[in-house]
Amino acid sequence: MMRDGAPKTIYRKDYLSPDFLIDSVELAFDIFDGRTRVSSKLHIHRNGANNAPLVLDGEALEIVGLKIDGRELDQTDFRYVHGKLTIMDVADQFCFEAEVDIVPEENTSLEGLYRSRTMYCTQCEAEGYRKITFGLDRPDVLSTYTVSLTADKANCPVLLSNGNEVSRYDAENGRHTVVWHDPHPKPSYLFAIVAGDLEVVSDTFTTLSGKVVDLRIWVEAKDIDYCAHAMRSLQASMRWDEERYGLEYDLDLFNIVAVDDFNMGAMENKSLNIFNTSCVLAHPDITTDLGYQRVESVVAHEYFHNFSGNRVTCRDWFQLSLKEGFTVYRDAEFSADMNSRGVKRIEDVAFLRTHQFAEDAGPMAHPVRPDSFIEISNFYTMTVYEKGAEVVRMLNTLLGDDAFYRGAKLYFERFDGMAVTCDDFVDAMQEASGKDLSQFRRWYEQAGTPIISVDATFNEASGQLDMTLTQRNPPTPGQDSKPPLHIPVALSLLVDGKHHEFGGGQTEQVLELTNESERLSFTGLSKAPVVSVLRGFSAPVRLEFEQSQDDLVSLIGFDDDPYVRWDASQRLAFEAIDDGTGHLAADYVDALRRVLDGSSEAAMKSQLLALPTEASIADRHAQVGLVDVHAIHSAKMRVAAALGTGLREELTDIVSAGMASAEVYAPSAAQIGQRALVHTALSLLVASDASWLATARELYFAATNLSDRLCAARLVVHHGDEVHRAEVLQHFFDRWKSENLVVNQWFVMQSTRPAPSAVQDVMALTEHEAFDWRNPNKVRSLISSFAGANPVAFHSSDGSGYTLLGDAVRRLQSGNPQIASRMLAPMTRFRRYAHGQDQMRAELESIAALKNLSQDVFEVVQRSLGDD
Ligand code: TRP
Ligand code: ZN
Repeated sequence: MMRDGAPKTIYRKDYLSPDFLIDSVELAFDIFDGRTRVSSKLHIHRNGANNAPLVLDGEALEIVGLKIDGRELDQTDFRYVHGKLTIMDVADQFCFEAEVDIVPEENTSLEGLYRSRTMYCTQCEAEGYRKITFGLDRPDVLSTYTVSLTADKANCPVLLSNGNEVSRYDAENGRHTVVWHDPHPKPSYLFAIVAGDLEVVSDTFTTLSGKVVDLRIWVEAKDIDYCAHAMRSLQASMRWDEERYGLEYDLDLFNIVAVDDFNMGAMENKSLNIFNTSCVLAHPDITTDLGYQRVESVVAHEYFHNFSGNRVTCRDWFQLSLKEGFTVYRDAEFSADMNSRGVKRIEDVAFLRTHQFAEDAGPMAHPVRPDSFIEISNFYTMTVYEKGAEVVRMLNTLLGDDAFYRGAKLYFERFDGMAVTCDDFVDAMQEASGKDLSQFRRWYEQAGTPIISVDATFNEASGQLDMTLTQRNPPTPGQDSKPPLHIPVALSLLVDGKHHEFGGGQTEQVLELTNESERLSFTGLSKAPVVSVLRGFSAPVRLEFEQSQDDLVSLIGFDDDPYVRWDASQRLAFEAIDDGTGHLAADYVDALRRVLDGSSEAAMKSQLLALPTEASIADRHAQVGLVDVHAIHSAKMRVAAALGTGLREELTDIVSAGMASAEVYAPSAAQIGQRALVHTALSLLVASDASWLATARELYFAATNLSDRLCAARLVVHHGDEVHRAEVLQHFFDRWKSENLVVNQWFVMQSTRPAPSAVQDVMALTEHEAFDWRNPNKVRSLISSFAGANPVAFHSSDGSGYTLLGDAVRRLQSGNPQIASRMLAPMTRFRRYAHGQDQMRAELESIAALKNLSQDVFEVVQRSLGDD
């Protein structure tokens, strides 16, 4: 195994506080081409009454020398095996020094210190620091860092670390040194350095109390014109956190660095955030509308971590959702305030319901706060992030804004500078609100998606509505029976298209479901109401509620909750798709026609019109049987065709108006909504009649922004004939080949073409000059989108899609275990499918049998194969 001898399961219940603490860390990096020497000096003191030896983390470090209190250690003084350096008999307080050599140029895992193109950068979360030098690489050891960086001045004019620059001077042989000091104690996972030839875009932010903060975005010269949107987003986030949470930035400098080779989206290192270029650069030529919104939300997410994560951090990695769930909730609320709140909520719910629900129903299911793991990198999941955010949202719903923000304030004050647990967070909320949250805590403990079934009967004579709500919590691996959860269910009643008043002008009630089953009644109703339930998606649950087509049509037309309207339209679409004939109920088409003719914002119209993703249809089917992705695809295409035909006039008007628009591109919520509606309309028209591909081709050549261009190109590539497909692909590549991020989209549009022959295309593209196995964005664009977003090709009946993914995992798993392990997700749920189970299992078994299997991939494969 890569790390630690045999893969070892770590349990939350085994947590022990550290035997030693490190007050301060002094680091010196001497960067040369092909070798970097790292010198570190740790001021350590004992943290318990025991006589434990000193055990430091350090992975694949070449030791040059070790000292304790200035005395050089020899081979007999220490033991260095399996990533642990053990020194017996140390004093209660001492200074440890290490000199080690590492080779960032050969680091393909992109954890620790590595080289990306011309720059050096670090990624320490979760356990990358130990690949740089020795330390106590766990989040509950907080130290102040002083960092000196020395490198060639011509190649690496820019040398950055956390905190403030304290000095800089030239050294011999054309080298120079810059020294940084971060006054805020932090865990090793928030440490970072960057060295390279970077250009900078600078601006400032003035805090509420009048302090001026320097903001700097560092990029390679080629990307210097793409930073404005990230800068605006950063300033908006800083303001938002002051206004909403009363949190003011705590240093004089905030840096963002854009890196091409990066395992995830971005990283919140204290005052030195490091970003995947895909999450920070933006320009109409290289960024779609969704891309603009993603940059805004990721910049905000990382900035918000400065408090939820950095000033108050996690005690251990089982508490990961403490910082991630809370921060995702914070960034979602920020995005809602910056754009259309209702549409943002719908997008997030759609994502959670398809992807997190599937995770929770598969072999990797785990609680928001996991109980065990082999490799923590495998637990940066939709459950920890997105479901974790839903848990915080439920707290907000149950407590109300006043108590919730008081709880947040108490949390940030009480635990400032500390490493704490999810329980500490809930304690603060409980104390601030006086509400008993003991049952609510089960949301952190229990994996799986609860199911709420609703039963409603109306008594005409008495004007009374009786409802029964029942929750079920199905078993997940390792958790057989689960007690009921504390679930907020927001509810409203519509009578004659108007929201019924419950009293005091209230049209919504939040019912707190705590028992397995709960009955409630509403009286004084003049006629049978339409029930609007789980409003705002008030809890991350599946809802079983039979409602008539008439009721769903009313909800779409009259409900004031965007989520409920959207969910009703999805339910009608699900019914139409499951029907399989491609024949649509007139009511459904009429309801959508009224939406298009009505006054909803364009983005909302687009959401109501768009058919469910194939992944979300699959997730529903998996609830009742096996999934046939091919049948789903054809049924959905038939419904799309019928909708395109049924709404031809309205859709044609939308497309014509869109194509005639001469507005200058802006990533404003209004424009983004307009374009989304045009794209949805054109897709339905193309599905109904291939002659619309001529319009798509026209839009491709006329487009002035990547959103239009990409939508048009995708339609031609996915649905056009070979000649037009080749024409657009060639033109697109020739025009944009110098822009990595655009080329990635070019890969995605080919890897997601819904036809079995896409398998050969993807295979051929792995040999393309623009493809690079070492760059995670390229691998994600070509391989992960293929396996995750092209069910028709991935599940092609000859099994070639599975082999393709298996080969990719085998190829990457030792070089970049994090990427290989994530890539596997679509195959881990092989038991869901009506086809290919044996072939997928065989691929997993062949991976399991690899020598030198990384523990990341080992854990995922082992859990997927389960008891087989
Ligand atoms: N903490 C980061 C975030 O959510 C994500 C992260 C975790 C990460 N591990 C990583 C990013 C490894 C890059 C590489 O904002
Ligand atoms: Zn995060």
